[in-house]
Amino acid sequence: MNPPELIGRNTILDDFQDALDNGPGSPDRLMRISGIRGVGKTVMLNALGAIARQRGFHVVDVASNPGFCARILTALSRTELTSISIAPALLGVSIGSAELSKSPTQLGEAMFNASKRGGLLITLDEIQDAPLDELRELGNEIQLLIRQGANVAFAFAGLPTSVDKAVGADTLTFLQRAKHIELSRLSDFEVGESFEGTVRQAGKELAPEAASLLTEAAAGYPFMVQLVGYYTWQSAARRDSNTVSAEDAERGIEIARANFDTMVIEPALRRLPQRQVEYLTAMARCSKQPAQTGDISRLMGLSAKDTSSYRKRLIDAAVIEKVGYGRVDFAIPYMREYLVAHAEDFIGE
Ligand SMILES: Nc1ncnc2c1ncn2[C@@H]1O[C@H](COP(=O)(O)OP(=O)(O)OP(=O)(O)O)[C@@H](O)[C@H]1O
Ligand SMILES: [Mg+2]
Repeated sequence: MNPPELIGRNTILDDFQDALDNGPGSPDRLMRISGIRGVGKTVMLNALGAIARQRGFHVVDVASNPGFCARILTALSRTELTSISIAPALLGVSIGSAELSKSPTQLGEAMFNASKRGGLLITLDEIQDAPLDELRELGNEIQLLIRQGANVAFAFAGLPTSVDKAVGADTLTFLQRAKHIELSRLSDFEVGESFEGTVRQAGKELAPEAASLLTEAAAGYPFMVQLVGYYTWQSAARRDSNTVSAEDAERGIEIARANFDTMVIEPALRRLPQRQVEYLTAMARCSKQPAQTGDISRLMGLSAKDTSSYRKRLIDAAVIEKVGYGRVDFAIPYMREYLVAHAEDFIGE
């Protein structure tokens, strides 16, 4: 869902707006967005799309799972923007990349036609799922269009390690030139301002203690900002009160925390193999936080060599982050608390 206000991202949006206004060739028309789960990559792509639409661009949003090149072609041919006709048999057939860079392909032609009628923005989400050959195909086409001075823009997003990997593949050097935006957590200041502004705009007062409780509970994590804000507002509305009080905030935070566990923490843990969850559980139980990797191995009764692959996979999945030498921290707030509270469910025999 798009939030009522995109907190702390104005500079990025302004830069993109300028890039569209400055015409083809502006470097910020190519954007690579990375960040952990729930930090706001998808809503950022949506916001870029909204800016482009306002300027008359045609916007195609696709997820990166196999077949996305064909889906872009289908989306372009469905609109009246392009006049090409597609032989269905051709969809999904992959053509060697050497050919692609020389002769105009159907995909390239469709994108070129769309770019001539008001401009074209392609957004590609969840790039960790992208087959490299398709990424290469799309990358080649866009590179060609840019070289021709076409009115195009391209933004792609995904988890940090996978975005780095996709861009690092030596056949995709063109993508390396994209402006890199690492979406980070929001600052407490920005979050607090946003809570106050949103409540005021809706015609209510936010008690100062409520503002600081909400800001602390949100922990700079955009998804949690939405949850605590929503349930706190609901509590005040049910009382029919014009002031959002500290009690509303406390009630809202409690419900938000329960929802956060079931909507974010549990699905994230369910996606992981047992051994990695055991690593996380040991990490959560370390008395020193952020945890020292040596302490985690010791708690698991394993050598540092044995645990290093678990750690690497968890970092790749953006569940944990390296913080300084030999230390790791949880990337998602409240995961540690959850694991401590439910340790017995997760520890193997
Ligand atoms: N800058 C922001 N200000 C306020 N709310 C935000 C912001 N960014 C994201 N959100 C909210 O956080 C939630 C998660 O955002 P989003 O789905 O874009 O994350 P994501 O990075 O794409 O996650 P995933 O990696 O799981 O796909 C949404 O409910 C969204 O409304
Ligand atoms: Mg997303």
